[in-house]
Amino acid sequence: NWTSVLLLALSTLAVSIYVDEPLLYDTFPPDFMWATATSAYQIEGGWDADGKGLSIYDVWMNDSNHVTDGTSGKVACNSYYFYEKDIEALRSLGVSYYRFSISWARVLPDGIGRINQPGIDYYKRLIAALKAANIQPMVTLYHWDLPQALELMGGWLNPSIADWFEEYARLCYTEFGNDVKYWITINEPWVIAYQGYGSGNTAPGTYGPGTFTYQAGHHIILAHAKAYRAYETQFKPTQQGKVGITVNINWYDPKDDQLENIEAAERALQFLGGWIANPIYGSGDYPDVMKQKVGDKSAQQGFNQSRLPEFTAEQKILVRGSADFFGLNYYTSYLTANKIQDISIIDYGYDQDIESYSDPTCYQSSFDWLTITPFGMRKTLQWIKDRFNDPEIIITENGISDRAGNLDDVMRVYYYKHNINSMLKAIKDGVRVTGYAAWSLMDNFEWGNGFTQKFGLFSIDFTTSDLNRTTKASARYYAKLVNDNGFMA
Ligand code: NOJ
Repeated sequence: NWTSVLLLALSTLAVSIYVDEPLLYDTFPPDFMWATATSAYQIEGGWDADGKGLSIYDVWMNDSNHVTDGTSGKVACNSYYFYEKDIEALRSLGVSYYRFSISWARVLPDGIGRINQPGIDYYKRLIAALKAANIQPMVTLYHWDLPQALELMGGWLNPSIADWFEEYARLCYTEFGNDVKYWITINEPWVIAYQGYGSGNTAPGTYGPGTFTYQAGHHIILAHAKAYRAYETQFKPTQQGKVGITVNINWYDPKDDQLENIEAAERALQFLGGWIANPIYGSGDYPDVMKQKVGDKSAQQGFNQSRLPEFTAEQKILVRGSADFFGLNYYTSYLTANKIQDISIIDYGYDQDIESYSDPTCYQSSFDWLTITPFGMRKTLQWIKDRFNDPEIIITENGISDRAGNLDDVMRVYYYKHNINSMLKAIKDGVRVTGYAAWSLMDNFEWGNGFTQKFGLFSIDFTTSDLNRTTKASARYYAKLVNDNGFMA
């Protein structure tokens, strides 16, 4: 009868509602690296200052249709001039590291060849000021702002980019390597390849789902590996630093315990994280499931050709093991179901044959893709440990945005508390996490969403010219957590 149907429906609902796990009151290892993160285009401004070359984002953002609020990163937080304000904010947090990125076109206006000394000097000033404040730099070489001169030669679709990137990396190691002990070669290859060269909805805006996407990804992996080997052979012996890459992984849970959905969730993880991580931290090659779906075997399944490039034997050796740590950007989780579809459709997002959605019982942020799912942090970390040979892991980003930008940002406090606690549990489970960077130090230019999505621990009023950094409640909370090095009962 209807009452029992209703009761049954209610009971399944009750089981699937997300409820916080109890917090673990414990501390982090004594040398744990606490940090915040930013990236050059999102904060620096000074887009044409002192001989800087154009990047693909300088060009892309010239079209105001590419940004919801019609803004650009031309000024942003103006950190090119106001970096002392950033350091003041960092100092008040008590963090020991700051993750920022170098703008390739600021130091090499044409991407290769001619060096722009004022650009080099800017990063030298920034690094010296950080060190004077007892904050160590953690530097990303590539956070999406490719020199436009290189894009004109094909950008990430040109195989020569591996050599261009190596030249740029060598310059940075030479100039800054005495002070920088943590290098991240490339930030979020998936986003670069899928959105820049797949859906085409971000710079350089090239549309080529399923074809260009995998070619760009291939060249990103090779560029990373060359930059790693250059460091390993020529710089590491004297500079003694570490080089890794940052992979973005969201967690995917199967929506129920049906085998096809369990497999779909694993497939989603492999297409997102395994794509980049398996060659570098795993077997030296793409995940088997990718080879089946979009590699050579896919030719037998109705495609006229493989869409996934292949590594030569030599390249596999170059790539495999080309990292000292695993950089992870973790934000959120999804529920996943298998999806049966016409695999002859080559289009954005179709490759995985999955359907994924946010759990409606979790808190939703103001960003459509981001719900608060702290449990996914612990699961993602365990997944990386199990799949990729137990690497040292640094969380290079984790955070949440809102539109209001209130100083009393309760949701952000909640997000950090539970995500960081989930990371602590993973460490107690035996996952080797050595550092954590909150995204972001301050409200900044959130790409296609302009200044409407605010991720900062510090607030900035972008209508003023002083652009002062103002402490939010989340900054106070994070400062205490850092100071306590964990959770006090
Ligand atoms: C990851 C990217 O690395 C960063 O640039 C971006 O602002 C955050 N995600 C938030 O979307």
